[in-house]
Amino acid sequence: MRSSKKEIENIVKLFNRIGVETVAPCHCTGKKAIGIFGEKFAGNLLECCAGVTFEVSN
Ligand SMILES: [Fe+2]
Repeated sequence: MRSSKKEIENIVKLFNRIGVETVAPCHCTGKKAIGIFGEKFAGNLLECCAGVTFEVSN
């Protein structure tokens, strides 16, 4: 939540490098990071909040 834009963009680069395709940030991620993830993972950003469950497959 307190990470800088640069730090968040570095996380996105890391996610890209390790093959992360979908992200599901929650409120602790912070609005700034959710916005950046929304741009970088357009179409692959899942809404997440307490109680939400996801089925993961590979
Ligand atoms: Fe949270």
